[in-house]
Amino acid sequence: MKLPTKNVALIVAAGKGERTGGEIPKQFNMLGGKTVIAHAVDAFTSHPAIDAVFVVVGEGQNQALVQALAGRPITGSVVGGSERQDSVRAGLNAIAAAGGADIVFIHDAARPFVPLHVIDHLFGALQSVEGAIPVIPVVDTLVRDDGTLGDVVDRSGLSRVQTPQAFRFDAIMTSHIQWSGKAATDDAQMARNAGFKVVTVTGDALLDKITHPADFALAESRMKSSMITRTGLGFDVHRLESGQKLWLCGIEVPHEKGLSGHSDADVALHALTDALLGAATRGDIGDHFPPSDPQWRGVASSRFVEHARDIILDAGGMIDHVDLTLMCEAPKIGPFRDRMRARIAELLRVSLNAVSVKATTTERLGFTGRGEGIASQAIVTVRMPKEV
Ligand code: CTP
Ligand code: MG
Repeated sequence: MKLPTKNVALIVAAGKGERTGGEIPKQFNMLGGKTVIAHAVDAFTSHPAIDAVFVVVGEGQNQALVQALAGRPITGSVVGGSERQDSVRAGLNAIAAAGGADIVFIHDAARPFVPLHVIDHLFGALQSVEGAIPVIPVVDTLVRDDGTLGDVVDRSGLSRVQTPQAFRFDAIMTSHIQWSGKAATDDAQMARNAGFKVVTVTGDALLDKITHPADFALAESRMKSSMITRTGLGFDVHRLESGQKLWLCGIEVPHEKGLSGHSDADVALHALTDALLGAATRGDIGDHFPPSDPQWRGVASSRFVEHARDIILDAGGMIDHVDLTLMCEAPKIGPFRDRMRARIAELLRVSLNAVSVKATTTERLGFTGRGEGIASQAIVTVRMPKEV
């Protein structure tokens, strides 16, 4: 069998992240709205020339991977080994078992940001050689140091090596098989050792690896500096009728009447969904869930919110804040407010203090004043990558 795919990304994520510390390996930590590994997976998935993505995880980390990817499809995953090269080898074997590939991009999950232009340059270089790696020049003065300042090391001609490292699949497979077993710092070294030519292309500071705790703060600030704040506004109204359940902000509220409409008619979650879609500039709730479509009849509106949330998160955005107002004479919202906030926080995966729920009457004026319906308004603040 031959994979119907040719250009494969192999992301190694089987390390323990000991130098970063923390309860979970660094690749499963959140960075902005998504996990470190999700950033890397998204970068490759969004490159039009990449056909498949394989991930190597540590023993017992399969569930952690599934959670960290939050529904993102990958081609396959495999358990790695105790050294990075063992993990790469396991990944290469998995790709071979799936029919092989023409080109493989071997990448550290601990490097979340992968500029697409680096992938393009690697592709370009591989037209004529077996391997290509991104590097950036060393800019700091280098010295020998054993506690006492030693000689300056000439930094001209020195570079820092990054990943993704791209190889003709057969060449890197051969290189791994031929390697003598001692620790290799990277795959390029193995390819060179096997006699293959590896060229360098211009890397990017964004590709720097998260190694120590401070690197997380740097990665966060790099990400945030490339994001812009957006707001989205949503408004909705539903009619109050007898014999219906009343759903507001994702919880059932006891009342003699309920809201009618397609889905569960949770007017607050509909306003919230529209606000999220507005912030993402992705139309409105009717575009995504047409009332005419029978599959949305009676469904929980939490589904709509989750869908809109994922549009923001999948685009690399983060949800900063929600302020929501319910307009009705009855029921009284105060007793339910904290549960409503907690449910919205859970749906949006944000902290409780990022969610405000308010209520107002309309002084017995208009349809809300007469108890004929409930209106809701929501405003969300998000941060989105500039290019989205
Ligand atoms: N890696 C791997 N298998 C290993 C060791 C490392 O797949 N046995 C992966 C890591 O998950 C990471 C990349 O190789 O994406 C680079 O390794 P490194 O930065 O050293 O990560 P860790 O080994 O996780 O960190 P530490 O060395 O601090 O424990
Ligand atoms: Mg390591």
